[in-house]
Amino acid sequence: MKYNTVGNTGLLVSELCFGTMTFGGQQEDMWAQIGRLQQKEVNEMLSAVVESGINFIDTANVYSFGQSEQLLGQGLTDLQVPRDEIVLATKLLAKMKDKPNSAGLSRYNVFNSVEASLKRLQLDYIDILYVHGVDPITSLEEIVRSLNDIVESGKVRYIAICNWPAWMVAKAQAIAYYKGWHKFIGLQYYYSAVSRDIEHELVPMAVDHDLAIFPWSPLAGGFLTGKFTREGADSDSRRATFDFPPIDKEKAYDLVDVMGDLAKIHDATIAQISLAWVRQQQGVTSTIIGAKTLEQLRLNIESTQLILTEEDLKKIDEVSPLAKQYPGWMVERQANYRK
Ligand SMILES: NC(=O)c1ccc[n+]([C@@H]2O[C@H](COP(=O)([O-])OP(=O)(O)OC[C@H]3O[C@@H](n4cnc5c(N)ncnc54)[C@H](OP(=O)(O)O)[C@@H]3O)[C@@H](O)[C@H]2O)c1
Repeated sequence: MKYNTVGNTGLLVSELCFGTMTFGGQQEDMWAQIGRLQQKEVNEMLSAVVESGINFIDTANVYSFGQSEQLLGQGLTDLQVPRDEIVLATKLLAKMKDKPNSAGLSRYNVFNSVEASLKRLQLDYIDILYVHGVDPITSLEEIVRSLNDIVESGKVRYIAICNWPAWMVAKAQAIAYYKGWHKFIGLQYYYSAVSRDIEHELVPMAVDHDLAIFPWSPLAGGFLTGKFTREGADSDSRRATFDFPPIDKEKAYDLVDVMGDLAKIHDATIAQISLAWVRQQQGVTSTIIGAKTLEQLRLNIESTQLILTEEDLKKIDEVSPLAKQYPGWMVERQANYRK
């Protein structure tokens, strides 16, 4: 397993991060469609993860409404995984209770959420705390100040961002810089061969600001595996009932065709080709893999052995071009006068 530094920190994380969104989910809600893994399977997976050299694990308070954190914390305790050998990340934002202050990024909820996550995880501190998305009512100044103070409290080591528009990330970093507060170290965003939107603004910003990139849903929730073709769908896959993240299906079918040919050449699976593609993109620090079975996990870990050639990458580019967007095309056009 290869390890990469996270942004401009001295922290090293494995090039794959293990996502735990498949843990828990007994009720008939959205989470139950994703995984439903219980303690025995969770422990088997964690054991394989640690064995592989993956040192980076991702969860969120909202995954199965706290069950993912609980199962993960119990698993790490059962397996006696040394605390100083893993980098554990969790998130906050979503509503955890039907009460007005049990959601969002207010100072009130930042401190309460971290306490609740630590209890469920059976830990004293979180390595990376992510804001899980935008809070439309809390000011950026309150958010950045609260995150700075939670780091100062010792309960969180680093802070990072999911799903914010680029302008908001840049503004938050500027506030932290001018106030002398802790800055964000990385970005967790949706990125797969079929959805390359982050290449417009977020990737160039991350490279310029030295922020790590942690892609989520690299298989587009299971679509880029060969289970979905023009001929039909695998009804056991979560994507058959839970159509997330949204994708251009025609483009995805074309990609699966091309990736199917590459899989034959490399004696790999389509999922492994998809994961290798994400891993090899500019700025990517650690790809967050999901798995519903131990076999999927094993195959996903094995994908790190696969290196796509320039020619392979070109074939994928040909069927997943990034649509030109304004002002990007104008910036490109105008930059020519400096060449
Ligand atoms: N920050 C955010 O907003 C955000 C959002 C979503 C996820 N995440 C993080 O990213 C992690 C990964 O997301 P994801 O689960 O959506 O990732 P994904 O890799 O796009 O999808 C994983 C799903 O694909 C299928 N799969 C996985 N490996 C496979 C293989 N080798 N062959 C065939 N099918 C395979 C499984 O579902 P089936 O067997 O049911 O097909 C699995 O649950 C999550 O655990 C979470 O930590 C973050």
